[in-house]
Amino acid sequence: METQKHKQIIVKQIVVLGTGGTIAGKSSSATDNVDYVASEVGVATLLEAIPSLTDTLGIAGQASYAGCELVCEQVAQVDSKDMTFEVWQRLLERCMHWLAQPQVQGIVITHGTDTLEETAFFLHSVLEAKKPVVLTCAMRPSTAVAPDGPQNLLDSLAVASSDQIKAVVAVCASTIHSAVAVQKVHNYRLDAFSSGDAGALGYVKEGKLVIYRKYESNMPIADVNVAYAAINNKANLNQLPRVEIVLNHSGAAGDGVQALLAQRTAATVNILRGIVVAATGNGTISQELERALQAAEAAGVVVWRSSRCAFGALVGKADAQFGDSGGLTPVKARIALMLHLALK
Ligand code: SIN
Repeated sequence: METQKHKQIIVKQIVVLGTGGTIAGKSSSATDNVDYVASEVGVATLLEAIPSLTDTLGIAGQASYAGCELVCEQVAQVDSKDMTFEVWQRLLERCMHWLAQPQVQGIVITHGTDTLEETAFFLHSVLEAKKPVVLTCAMRPSTAVAPDGPQNLLDSLAVASSDQIKAVVAVCASTIHSAVAVQKVHNYRLDAFSSGDAGALGYVKEGKLVIYRKYESNMPIADVNVAYAAINNKANLNQLPRVEIVLNHSGAAGDGVQALLAQRTAATVNILRGIVVAATGNGTISQELERALQAAEAAGVVVWRSSRCAFGALVGKADAQFGDSGGLTPVKARIALMLHLALK
């Protein structure tokens, strides 16, 4: 008897996870790009609004992109200024879940622009992404005359459907940024992000990727599995250790740090464990602020030094006094220090 061999066709999937932001924002006037409410529209509706996706109804009647079925999930619906560790944990859990599915080709995450670089860096630090994980956003609400969200989503799907980048990246205004380098540098322009001195990873041109450089090989957290375990399996870890950022400026006083220390003595939960100082220039700190930070260290608070300069990493010998943020911006150094303290 002839043996019949059945070949199982595996349908590739791209998973689109919604978290809110301006990309999901609504304004009462189509010409108003500023006075709108973020995080109003569901991620499925954002995809449905892109004609090329719904027109190419492919496999099983689902919307598809480049032969990949699109699956979407609303993980959160927040303005990213209010992003919480709880949402990060949920997002990480959904990324871990979907990345482990053999049929999943990649993940796209819709996010607000304001803290996109923080979520991207967090995921980069704790996720062993062997597939593309692409954060995208918009500077204009979905109701705008010419919204940028649909094109950013399409470009992100192009990155997620490709095998060229297997890491956490951000895509905005046709540009692909690494999670390590990306930062929001403009409050209004559609091309609001920069990769600074490192430069963009590449661009998306009419659905095709043009790659210019390799992804940074340095993982800020040496062992992603340990980091993942620390934030997911520690039963008592419902929050990462508290780390605050203080800014040096001309005439910076130490009062802010002193207030944090006083609060620390009184606090019983979420006690301050670390401070990142956004120092001036190549890491300089006013005498008064420096004395306050030394007192903080003496009280057991870990202090890391970063620069408030938009670009560049601190140059010179390793910091003898405070920890070195390794070239990370203050907001990313804060996440790295929170994870560092969580792993201790
Ligand atoms: C947000 O970050 O959620 C609002 C601002 C934006 O997405 O541009």
